[in-house]
Amino acid sequence: MKKIVEVKNLTKFYGDLKALDNFSFDVKKGEIIGFLGPNGSGKTTAINSILGLLKIQEGEIEIFGEKMSPEAYQIKKDIGVVLQNVAVFDYLTVYENIDYFCGLYVKEKDKRKELVEEAIKIVGLEKYKKFFPPKLSGGLLRRLNIACGIAHKPKLLFLDEPTVAVDPQSRNNILESIKKLNEEGTTVIYTTHYMEEVEFLCDRVIIIDNGSIVAEGTVDELKNSLDVGEKVEVEFRELTVKQLEKLKKLKSLVETSVEGSVITLYFKKQKDNMVKLFEFIKEEKLEAISMNLKTPTLNDVFLEITGKELRD
Ligand SMILES: Nc1ncnc2c1ncn2[C@@H]1O[C@H](COP(=O)(O)OP(=O)(O)OP(=O)(O)O)[C@@H](O)[C@H]1O
Ligand SMILES: [Mg+2]
Repeated sequence: MKKIVEVKNLTKFYGDLKALDNFSFDVKKGEIIGFLGPNGSGKTTAINSILGLLKIQEGEIEIFGEKMSPEAYQIKKDIGVVLQNVAVFDYLTVYENIDYFCGLYVKEKDKRKELVEEAIKIVGLEKYKKFFPPKLSGGLLRRLNIACGIAHKPKLLFLDEPTVAVDPQSRNNILESIKKLNEEGTTVIYTTHYMEEVEFLCDRVIIIDNGSIVAEGTVDELKNSLDVGEKVEVEFRELTVKQLEKLKKLKSLVETSVEGSVITLYFKKQKDNMVKLFEFIKEEKLEAISMNLKTPTLNDVFLEITGKELRD
């Protein structure tokens, strides 16, 4: 499949701080790639470096098979960008802002009008067309930021945490629209801290930490790479201390926590975990009042790979 983005050994310093360390990855035509990583891991730096907005110390970047540079206007005309920091003009209305950004790519007036109206609909700003940005709430401003980046239907779209502060209704609409753009041919690089967005959108995920890629794969591949299997929350009508001790000795159980009458069991990845649990319940003649089974989530993967400690 054709490579739309090819990044090789990208290294970026801010003064003495190495923000990207030998960062390499590819994006194929038609993919939606999720960029995940803790705060300060280098996602925005990677995107802005690829876009030629930041000076890099080392590395090669090709987009659409051509070398990317700050002056590569031929490449840039087919790219859309929704930056992490909202970038709109305060003295232009909502409509005028979107029209301005779309106008950088689409000169024909009628076509542009159609595209601007469509973008307004996607982000649900119909009622706010004549508003100036300083009069918009944080979430509405974010939605305007997105509309400005997507209106011209680029071949390659970068979105850096676009849905921060956006309410769930608009978020669904935006995610659906990104998917639709993708189905129409747009390749997407998407950064977020919302795992459910990644599960919904992304074909492939790249997890970044300390300026390097620490994991890469589809959501399922990443989940399968974990050591942990099911997590089971179970409540028994009666359970003696002796029985609890015996339960804790179940093979492949890695951790048990008890909170009130609810016991949470964390199993290693193994096929017969539930069979063993049911055998135990039967043998001990126990009565389970409730049982809740959870398989690992992308959030579990993220925490396992990047660690659970808080970042600065
Ligand atoms: N303009 C800058 N000058 C100096 N250091 C910077 C600058 N921008 C970012 N950094 C540092 O580079 C590192 C990577 O930052 P970056 O903004 O790329 O992270 P991020 O993964 O996008 O984080 P977030 O999830 O918070 O958006 C951090 O240590 C950050 O403090
Ligand atoms: Mg960022």
